[in-house]
Amino acid sequence: MIRQCTEKDIPQVAEIEKLSFAHPYPAFVFKKYLRAKFLVAEEMGKIRGYIIGVKMGEKGIIISLAVHPDYRRKGYGKKLIEELVKIMDASIIEIQVRIGNKGALKFYQSVGFERKGIIPSYYGNGEDAVVMFMRKG
Ligand SMILES: CC(C)(COP(=O)(O)OP(=O)(O)OC[C@H]1O[C@@H](n2cnc3c(N)ncnc32)[C@H](O)[C@@H]1OP(=O)(O)O)[C@@H](O)C(=O)NCCC(=O)NCCS
Repeated sequence: MIRQCTEKDIPQVAEIEKLSFAHPYPAFVFKKYLRAKFLVAEEMGKIRGYIIGVKMGEKGIIISLAVHPDYRRKGYGKKLIEELVKIMDASIIEIQVRIGNKGALKFYQSVGFERKGIIPSYYGNGEDAVVMFMRKG
């Protein structure tokens, strides 16, 4: 089931975040997004993944997306992004991805995102960001 995140989901979301990123967002950051489009994928009472989207001007921006490492390549990421795109009131959805995150780049391409360009040295470690976008049909 894909549904809006609530405060009691945040410990599980923060745990998935910790398992997924070298520089994870702490739990309080997630609390700030509870009123944004913040979706979780839940199965058997457990959170398998989450996605956060916000509107910035005319664009929808994906702030974060992660699926628990034990549940990847099972379609949760795709379901989360498809639902987010559906509910975002924006004609263009954008995401910035670390250039070294080849799995995520392939994932976004497979769900219909295209490469828009590169932001050099965008991240703290000097890594470039790839900007990807999708036009809502
Ligand atoms: C990126 C991420 C969210 C994808 O979630 P997921 O649930 O595993 O993705 P799905 O199962 O919906 O994958 C859909 C398709 O995307 C592509 N894909 C997904 N992960 C991939 C990978 N690591 N390598 C290559 N292709 C990949 C495949 O085409 C896949 O279809 P298939 O499994 O039938 O081949 C997940 O790998 C993750 O949490 N990564 C760590 C956090 C991260 O990098 N987040 C994005 C930051 S911008």
